[in-house]
Amino acid sequence: MGPGAFEYLGLPTRVVHAEGAVQDIVAHVERSGGSRAMLVCGGKTGKSRLVANLKRLLGPKLVATFDGFPEHSGTKAVAEGARLAAESGADLLLVAGGGSASDTAKAIAILLAEGGPLARHHTVFVPPDRYVQQPLPNAKLPIIAIPTTLSAAEVTPGLGIRNEADGKKLLFWDAKLAPRLIILDPAANLEVPAAVMATTGMNAFAHCIEGLYSKVRNPVSEAMALQGIRLLCEALPAMARAPGDVGARSRALVGAHLSGLVIANARVGIHHGVCHCLGALGGLSHGVANSVFLPFAMRYNLEVAAPQLKLAALAMGLEVRALPDREAALAAIEATEALKRAIGVPLRLRDTTLDRALFPAIAEHALVDRALFFNPRPTASAAAVIELLEQAW
Ligand SMILES: [Fe+2]
Repeated sequence: MGPGAFEYLGLPTRVVHAEGAVQDIVAHVERSGGSRAMLVCGGKTGKSRLVANLKRLLGPKLVATFDGFPEHSGTKAVAEGARLAAESGADLLLVAGGGSASDTAKAIAILLAEGGPLARHHTVFVPPDRYVQQPLPNAKLPIIAIPTTLSAAEVTPGLGIRNEADGKKLLFWDAKLAPRLIILDPAANLEVPAAVMATTGMNAFAHCIEGLYSKVRNPVSEAMALQGIRLLCEALPAMARAPGDVGARSRALVGAHLSGLVIANARVGIHHGVCHCLGALGGLSHGVANSVFLPFAMRYNLEVAAPQLKLAALAMGLEVRALPDREAALAAIEATEALKRAIGVPLRLRDTTLDRALFPAIAEHALVDRALFFNPRPTASAAAVIELLEQAW
């Protein structure tokens, strides 16, 4: 393709954003083509008022509940969930939760449609530049997602599942996994702790930043990334100051949704490549990994992405219009560090539970993460990733 040419993928997802939208769940299930829903949610969400309300409202239309999986859900849990869905005759998956619940539901849909084992369907990146996506041709069960965090995992048709055999994260991508419906309900979100909203909010913010400098960015993803940055920059500190502020939660949910649309198109770069491994191998939640690592990844890309990072600085409301690109980009990195402090997320890897001895293994795995394919600066060796991890320690 020549200069300025691009491809843009629109997803077939209906989005409802309204306080109290969850109350109409029965109509939403019917309109999405389902009559027998299986609820997929993490253990904590399983005990929430949201899930109790969904169970009461759905009554006999809810044929099964699958909540037996940890954060960074693995291939075994997915197989168990697929078995439960098949046994109960579910014709729709209803997800309540964050990234792990959403990814688990999408993986269950793959397994049911394409057969097992799951590992045979994953995307492979062969450095430096070969990217092999497995064809997943069969129709998937419809999904309705009610996100309780800001990960935006529900927006994309991509997912990551931990392979118990070797601890690696298997990544998948199929446009048919995009939910039929996403319900953004800030009232249903109020019981989610502010700390979870802060770390997952940094993940959403990172989607917008990485989307701006991705090798496959386009004008549509750029517009969504800039509006996502504007909303998240304002809403995340507002939510940290007043966790019960429904308006701030509402704006954060919309910003996060935009961030999901960004990565559905522009994908993600080295920041996410490393964060996937900080999660799968290092045991950090994706939100915590994102919170710590983002400014370090921005600095890594500084010399090749200064004009895009200047756009981020402008969207953050910084007075940088008259500055050269590089100086404006540095201001964006400083403002990201200030945002971290303002919302109280972990600042360095040493502030988390991570074991520093894992750096070489994390670096080796990050090198073959498909996200590196989309990063504007190539990464040739594990040593470069270890150096980045040391900076973030
Ligand atoms: Fe992410």
